[in-house]
Amino acid sequence: MTKKILVIPGDGIGPEVTTWGKAVLEKIGKDFGHEFTYDEALMGHAAIEATGSPLPDETLEKAKASDAILFGAIGHIKYDNDPSAKVRPEQGLLGIRKGLGLYANLRPIMLFDELLDASSLKPEVLRGTDILFFRELTGDVYFGEKTRTQDFASDLMNYNRYEVERIARKAYDAASLRSKRVCSVDKANVLETSRLWREVVQEIAKEYPDVETEHMFIDNAAMQLVKNPKKFDVVVTANLFGDILTDEASQIAGSMGMLASASVGDGTGFFEPIHGSAHDIAGQDKANPLASILSVALMLEIGFGLPEEAKKVTAAIDKTLKAGYRTGDIADAKTDKAKILGTTAMGRKVLEYL
Ligand code: NAD
Ligand code: IPM
Ligand code: MN
Repeated sequence: MTKKILVIPGDGIGPEVTTWGKAVLEKIGKDFGHEFTYDEALMGHAAIEATGSPLPDETLEKAKASDAILFGAIGHIKYDNDPSAKVRPEQGLLGIRKGLGLYANLRPIMLFDELLDASSLKPEVLRGTDILFFRELTGDVYFGEKTRTQDFASDLMNYNRYEVERIARKAYDAASLRSKRVCSVDKANVLETSRLWREVVQEIAKEYPDVETEHMFIDNAAMQLVKNPKKFDVVVTANLFGDILTDEASQIAGSMGMLASASVGDGTGFFEPIHGSAHDIAGQDKANPLASILSVALMLEIGFGLPEEAKKVTAAIDKTLKAGYRTGDIADAKTDKAKILGTTAMGRKVLEYL
């Protein structure tokens, strides 16, 4: 198989973890005889520094011309602490999602048994959890009109019927192949956008008579997710709710450093960890590279239709964890101190097992 892959390392721990995602992809390419070629592009703070724009035209053009994108993370503390900054790294990420029509963000909550004790939640609550989130990614309050005066600010939350229909269909299609259950999360008791959301999901549900549908309010869902995560299978929700719920859900998997995502839609697929640039650990060789490596597994499976190759990647991670190796974020009291590794050593271990 011949594929052109664009790598966008970004900021902070982005480049540190993406190095290992890319190394794994290169090894898979060689081992399976695929012709993967690579190009690189700037986004976020790195792009602002080099060009003045968080999403240079060249990056979007390269993205559109590629078969898949491996992205790291963007963000810089300088902007986090300056609410008045007009140009911001995050605009790059939002711009590329919109520019590529990436309306569906798949965030699987995959649980490695070895990490049951790494979570702050009880192992018996976690064991057996397997959730697939469908987060709508190009609508909602993220992209509505923004206004600001000295003493007033507004972010418009809006959804079009077709935007809800297409993400709902993706979720139901996936549920049809899994345990045939969809939980749609909204705030229809308060928000007009959520009432449209619920109405549309109820309609789409009729097209899938063998899939069971549950509607849940976001506040309740946030609670149920830590009370009894096993009750969820496919979850479909709006952009902002999905952003928040999946960071919460990362604690089921043990760490933000374990959650990968696939953003799909009209064209090129985009594969990225759910975490950010993590200023608190950037540049210290502490970041967990597994979310980036798992993003590569999603690229192989969802982006390229190569499930065997994807399985090799997750199996290599499984072996690394079974052998006791951990980055700091997923180490627990029982972890052998000598097996707590930095980003580089952990990346190398996964490659060795691969
Ligand atoms: P964050 O996800 O960067 O970090 C949250 C916490 O999780 C931190 O304590 C961090 O150390 C930890 N963490 C995250 N990834 C980890 C990894 N791979 N290994 C070990 N620990 C990890 O969220 P934040 O601190 O709220 O945001 C920092 C910056 O990142 C901000 O500028 C924000 O806008 C940006 N951000 C970008 C993305 C993205 O690029 N997709 C996502 C979220 C946040
Ligand atoms: C994510 C991030 C982004 C989001 C930010 C950085 C724009 O939190 O990818 O989850 O809110 O979508
Ligand atoms: Mn987020």
